[in-house]
Amino acid sequence: MTTLGIIGSGRIGSNVARAATAAGYDVVLSNSRGPATLGELVAELGDHASAATPEEAARRGDLVLVAVPLGKIDQLPAEALTGKVVMDANNYYPQRDGRIAALDGNESTTSDLLQALAPGARIVKAFNNIYAHEIPADASPTGTEGRRALPIAGNDEAAKSLVASFLDAIGFDAVDLGPLAESWRVERDTPAYGKRTTASELAAILPTVERVQQV
Ligand SMILES: NC(=O)c1ccc[n+]([C@@H]2O[C@H](COP(=O)([O-])OP(=O)(O)OC[C@H]3O[C@@H](n4cnc5c(N)ncnc54)[C@H](OP(=O)(O)O)[C@@H]3O)[C@@H](O)[C@H]2O)c1
Repeated sequence: MTTLGIIGSGRIGSNVARAATAAGYDVVLSNSRGPATLGELVAELGDHASAATPEEAARRGDLVLVAVPLGKIDQLPAEALTGKVVMDANNYYPQRDGRIAALDGNESTTSDLLQALAPGARIVKAFNNIYAHEIPADASPTGTEGRRALPIAGNDEAAKSLVASFLDAIGFDAVDLGPLAESWRVERDTPAYGKRTTASELAAILPTVERVQQV
């Protein structure tokens, strides 16, 4: 069975963990304060869950989720992420993350920043476009009428394929919006951001999105 390593076990991390364990995945949770602080969540998730350091979670994960505030991504265990397929849930909130010139100037994307910090990782943007509590709530089996779709982006086709399979297993269709450089199409303040859409609805919105200045 695939193990999901989770770096950042707050709102997104814990809810992806809920959906993943419900689908039979093993999860290794981590945060900044240490595994001892994750006992309650591990107990809630049951036998499929354990807690570790971020480095150990990265090493043990067949697939890894990064769900920390964007301003903290320079603290991640980049070496341990080498060769890993890494789902990146980040969004840019300057009030929380501090101003980042490359994003303010629309010269980069949040996922390209993570890719630059962890050059050996196979980064796939995922889960940035859904509110955390909706992850377990909106999951539904493959083929369900009106099934919710989540956008993914990445430079590595095989990595995206793995992430699409993971999303399908936990309850969502995936819509590929291209390389990481295109991931701004589902960033904050865009029409599809946070919206419940099916795959065809989402695919219809994406080409119409205009890039906005981050404020
Ligand atoms: N919340 C949402 O609905 C939502 C939706 C889509 C995307 N996002 C994006 O997803 C990312 C995570 O958001 P969130 O709402 O899940 O945040 P959150 O609830 O504040 O949780 C953040 C987690 O990151 C951990 N963390 C912080 N620094 C770390 C480090 N250096 N190493 C390891 N873990 C670290 C925190 O651990 P400690 O508590 O121990 O510090 C905490 O477990 C953000 O970029 C956010 O914008 C959020």
